[in-house]
Amino acid sequence: MEQVIRKFSFDEMVDRLIAFKVPYHDNYLAMYSSWYGGIVVDPALMMVPVDDHLVHRGDGVFEAFKCIGGSIYGLERHLDRLERSARGIFIDLPCDRGTLTRIIRATVRAAGARDAMIRLFVSRGPGGFSTNPYECPASQLYVVCSRFQPTPTERYEKGVTLKSSHVPIKKAYLANMKSCNYLPNVLMKKEAEDAGVDYTVSIDDEGFLGEGSTENIGIITRDREFLVPRFDRVLRGTTITRVMELAAELVNRGQWARIGEADITPAQAHEAAEILVFGTSFDILPVVRYDDRPIGDGRPGPWGARLLELLRADMAGCDEMLTPVED
Ligand SMILES: Cc1ncc(COP(=O)(O)O)c(C=O)c1O
Repeated sequence: MEQVIRKFSFDEMVDRLIAFKVPYHDNYLAMYSSWYGGIVVDPALMMVPVDDHLVHRGDGVFEAFKCIGGSIYGLERHLDRLERSARGIFIDLPCDRGTLTRIIRATVRAAGARDAMIRLFVSRGPGGFSTNPYECPASQLYVVCSRFQPTPTERYEKGVTLKSSHVPIKKAYLANMKSCNYLPNVLMKKEAEDAGVDYTVSIDDEGFLGEGSTENIGIITRDREFLVPRFDRVLRGTTITRVMELAAELVNRGQWARIGEADITPAQAHEAAEILVFGTSFDILPVVRYDDRPIGDGRPGPWGARLLELLRADMAGCDEMLTPVED
């Protein structure tokens, strides 16, 4: 029998929203919406208007950062990148930096967790369904706070696998910003899942390594150079950037020869002593297989572990990098 397609009254819809529950909603803790003008903590209310150009055109920019032990790590750097991304597509942020920070802190406080993942979206805003950005009177801000799910220890201890991607790389203009137009990144993640590997890495038009779906890649050569793909072609990750700063002490002490950007071929990566993956949620993970060949001796190497130590110490104790959530 054909299913009846119901038309709901306003009150019926409110009742349905109250009753609406799906298991993954347990991880959603709080959302600020400038469209609502405040914070909601019921996941059923964490919605974005369908006529926001973010929804139907991917017209917006975003950031993802984490709060650990009650402090947000690297917030200023994430907000610097957000401002750059927004400028790149001519979106004015809906509020100034001070207000933005107050909203983020209030949302994390409302979430009531000392550890949380925060995703922030700045959209072109509601205003119709065409591509025309001038249709939208005002940009909007959505801040979503969800439960932080730590990466299993096993992944640091046993390492992860990596594969070259076949998804065409984004042009530098789009790769350099964190726009909500992440279709190539989505396809790279699907590619990894389908191939049974942890990550895929893009290969640019000249045959050099790019980045992962939402992570940066770096290698440590047998000559003790820490090399990363050139940032003019990939997103300048906050994690890898901070690690490069912290690792300068290894060069100063003569333990490493050099840290820098380079054109890295897959063949060079195969010969590397270590390949590492960098990203906000997990920090640093060692790659033990790339395109089905072992890296180094096929086990996580010492340098990745050393860099992780430096980064975790920074997260625990560098005031300049930490924004406490409580007043
Ligand atoms: C395409 C891309 N590259 C790299 C990164 C790593 O950046 P970060 O270290 O700031 O998380 C991300 C993550 O946001 C990303 O989306």
